[in-house]
Amino acid sequence: PIVQGRPAGFDIPAACFGLTVTEVQHYTDRLFRFRVTRPATFRFRSGEFVMIGLPNAERPVMRAYSIASPAWDDTLEFYSIKVPDGPLTEHLANIQVGDTILMRKKPTGTLVLDALTPGKRLWMLSTGTGIAPFASLIRDPETYERFDEVILCHGCREVAELTFGQEITDAALGDPLVGEMAQGRLRLFNTATREAYKVKGRITDMIRSGDIYTALNVPPITAADDRVMICGSMEMLADCRSICLELGLEEGANNRPAEFVVEKAFVD
Ligand code: A2P
Repeated sequence: PIVQGRPAGFDIPAACFGLTVTEVQHYTDRLFRFRVTRPATFRFRSGEFVMIGLPNAERPVMRAYSIASPAWDDTLEFYSIKVPDGPLTEHLANIQVGDTILMRKKPTGTLVLDALTPGKRLWMLSTGTGIAPFASLIRDPETYERFDEVILCHGCREVAELTFGQEITDAALGDPLVGEMAQGRLRLFNTATREAYKVKGRITDMIRSGDIYTALNVPPITAADDRVMICGSMEMLADCRSICLELGLEEGANNRPAEFVVEKAFVD
């Protein structure tokens, strides 16, 4: 299959935009981010995902990707894992500035502010590339209009995998639009599970033990004050959902806002 550019005669399907890659950054041999041009007609809510693919086959492989940039930004950012032999990521990992990607025109998703009822503190629980939708939400002013405090929790296997989360948090705090609102209210809580690090262990274990509250100096999660957004692997979602239900929080959806929402992170 042709990876760079598009095969001669490939027509962009009517349901898709053909977007030009403007930036690519590799973090580890497993992780990278890239930016593409944003069509003037494309609208989405921070936290939503879209289907993306490459124009390298008659029936391109399309996969769900959270948009990692905020709704006001004039380019679109994505954060991706590279899976050896992954039907899409194996090729996507080789994209370069100037290449074309396909993006379906309709965004969707439940990790949106509209799916949550008002609260004081917003917890964003993520592992691996599950941090992507939160990269969008922490740079959206509406997040700070709705919540006093935002706690972005990110768990990874290795320390190098935490870099993207640190960069987007720094970017939010220094941003001309949201930086001032985020100062003192946005916090990043990192853990690594398979390497020595200042905080070691799974986020779920740290919530169950209460160690996370001590570390952050916040009261335990309650339905009265706290709202939770969750994005990670299927197992991580199941564990976090159980924790939220045990804490008495109710799961929300776009048409029925409640106290927590979940979404599966892109995997292959
Ligand atoms: P661990 O190293 O203990 O498996 P993965 O790359 O497998 O998706 O994992 C990313 C991070 O999420 C790892 O730190 C992993 O920890 C952690 N993790 C995996 N499963 C769960 C779970 N059920 N709950 C919380 N964290 C999890």
